[in-house]
Amino acid sequence: MKPTAELLAMIEQALRQVSYPTQPVGLYEPIAYVLDGGGKRIRPMLTLMGYSLYRDDVERALPAALALETYHNHTLLHDDLMDHAEVRRGRPVVHKKWDENTAILSGDTMLIMAFRHLLAVDMPQPQAIWDLFSRSAQEICEGQQYDVNFESRTDVEEEEYIEMIRLKTSVLLACSLKTGALVADAPAADADALYRFAERVGLAFQLQDDYLDVYGDPKVFGKKIGGDILCGKKTFLLIRALKKADADQRQRLLDLLADHTMADEAKIQAVRNLYDDLHIADDCTEAINAYYAEARKALDSVALPQAQKAPLWEYAASLLGRTK
Ligand code: IPE
Ligand code: IPE
Ligand code: MG
Ligand code: MG
Ligand code: MG
Repeated sequence: MKPTAELLAMIEQALRQVSYPTQPVGLYEPIAYVLDGGGKRIRPMLTLMGYSLYRDDVERALPAALALETYHNHTLLHDDLMDHAEVRRGRPVVHKKWDENTAILSGDTMLIMAFRHLLAVDMPQPQAIWDLFSRSAQEICEGQQYDVNFESRTDVEEEEYIEMIRLKTSVLLACSLKTGALVADAPAADADALYRFAERVGLAFQLQDDYLDVYGDPKVFGKKIGGDILCGKKTFLLIRALKKADADQRQRLLDLLADHTMADEAKIQAVRNLYDDLHIADDCTEAINAYYAEARKALDSVALPQAQKAPLWEYAASLLGRTK
């Protein structure tokens, strides 16, 4: 497998080489803004790595990698609108830099572009990746809907939360890696085990994202801290805090969540203080580690020599304890 830095450089170059129409400017300019906005490129990296486990001519997986990254950026435009976010990757979000209609329509266009990249993948039976991709895209909508539904509930169980983040976040990581393996014509059992591996990594990844939304450094994280608290998102931290809290703490937390008069910063700080009192950060780390252990097991079951799988494991492990 090519070194991680080389794969990343291939992705950046391929993204730069995609040619878009120039007109109408209002549709395509935001797309260029978002796609060269310096994300971590985790999904296309997984696609190239999934392919590289089986074949050396990794260029062949690039159209699929572009599909996954373009699709991911589509979800971000709509997610930021839904979450009232203002900053992403250290820059204003599209619906602030332009307007809400732009986020909707440029976002839609990226969804369609993602399918067009996928249609350009050269493989004998592409139906398998079309099915996987379209199913995953629909599951992500389901996850996003649960995420919204949970905002107005205070009785969300941890299992419901895990299923919600599996849908909104994990399935895309899983789809990305499995797509690479499928393009390389990997054995079906391996492709499924790789899916399971990335799905588990994805759960840990979203837990980490929830954690960073409270404890991250906004300069590194690239997003505003506390957005989840202000939206009443039922994150792992909040669900666990509600579970561990005594009656007084629970009431205080519920009062804080329901308070729409308090200044944002004060509210975020007060919720964070309660999380600290309840040692929620430790619980979060423990849960993340547990999902990594499950991921490890899934990867171990892939019928390839350990050494061949090592770069993929190292890459996944590098996401553990991410700061952005
Ligand atoms: C953001 O994904 C959305 C989540 C699933 C948390 P990333 O953290 O991978 O975003 P970029 O592409 O690197 O900015
Ligand atoms: C991301 O969840 C899920 C999707 C984009 C589909 P978040 O809403 O937590 O992602 P960020 O924190 O805005 O990146
Ligand atoms: Mg969001
Ligand atoms: Mg969201
Ligand atoms: Mg988040």
